[in-house]
Amino acid sequence: MEDILILAIESSCDETAASVVKNGREVLSNVIASQIDLHTLYGGVVPEIASRKHIEKINQVIESALQEAGVLLKEITAIAVTYGPGLVGALLVGVSEAKAISFASGIPLVGVHHIEGHICANYIENKDLEPPFICLVASGGHSHLVEVKDYGKYRIIGRTRDDAAGEAFDKVARAIGLGYPGGPKIDRFSGEGNPEAIHFPRAKVEENEYDFSFSGLKSAVLNYLNGCRMKGETVSEADVAASFQKAVIDVLVEHSMQAIKQLEYNKFAIAGGVASNSSLRKAFEKRCKEEGVRFFHPSSVFCTDNAAMIGVAGYYDFVRGERSGYDLNAVPNLKLGER
Ligand code: KG4
Ligand code: ZN
Repeated sequence: MEDILILAIESSCDETAASVVKNGREVLSNVIASQIDLHTLYGGVVPEIASRKHIEKINQVIESALQEAGVLLKEITAIAVTYGPGLVGALLVGVSEAKAISFASGIPLVGVHHIEGHICANYIENKDLEPPFICLVASGGHSHLVEVKDYGKYRIIGRTRDDAAGEAFDKVARAIGLGYPGGPKIDRFSGEGNPEAIHFPRAKVEENEYDFSFSGLKSAVLNYLNGCRMKGETVSEADVAASFQKAVIDVLVEHSMQAIKQLEYNKFAIAGGVASNSSLRKAFEKRCKEEGVRFFHPSSVFCTDNAAMIGVAGYYDFVRGERSGYDLNAVPNLKLGER
């Protein structure tokens, strides 16, 4: 059988990325131009700047992805592109580029859901992982507990009611002066603190036991910091970071393990930027081992935004016969399982 080569493009937030993926799970190249340094100046992603930078970078990123893979454009089977969810102006750069290449070359186009990409990142290094399984997707924009019933078949069983887990990391990091992006900084800094030092709340959502809520936790951290400052007490930022991180992890682990047990799954995966958190991985490794559940996670480079994961998702969409027309548009609030 002939190889299926997917050229994937991702530009939903602040990374301009392109990748070539062979036969679904073999990543031939994974090029990422990060804008983090630029957005750090403003303490977060500035959408207008993100779009402009994507325009500047996208051609060279695609060029490098093909070159590194040793593949010519005419050898590509299909072009996969993230069309939502994400920042509309940022998404539009990737979508327009993919449409233009597809139109000029006649190579078929497949629009990919960003969250589906995050989930599919698990297939890259775990060659024997197949659905069905439960996946926790925790990133800067999303916190979803998903039942992965089959390739392309998802059921969301829990979601955040307010802030995403990564967003909480970013906001708390800013409050204790660590800067943007907060996740990796809190991850490292927590090693110097005591996770049991301060008890922050673990919120439960009444209507759905699998839903998350992180805004109360974020407020509790801010109140704690203000309280200490007003009383003139010195704050151990490392203890705050470690205790906050523990509170997030406890909730993510409890909800996930509950879903795995109740829905009787024996495989569990994590995805999204927060999935690269070292303490989170350790906590899941331990609990899954105790419960006899197989635990999967991507390497850090495939947890945060990248195009390889879009190539994997795009491959499974493509072989199922899904194609997008030249009317493909950016959909900032695209729902999982919707096409
Ligand atoms: O998946 P991603 O790159 O972008 C979105 O689709 O949102 O996730 C970025 C998020 C940021 O909020 C960042 O702070 C968080 O993932 N993150 C982490 C870690 N690395 C990145 N959070 C906790 N620990 C980490 N090591
Ligand atoms: Zn993402």
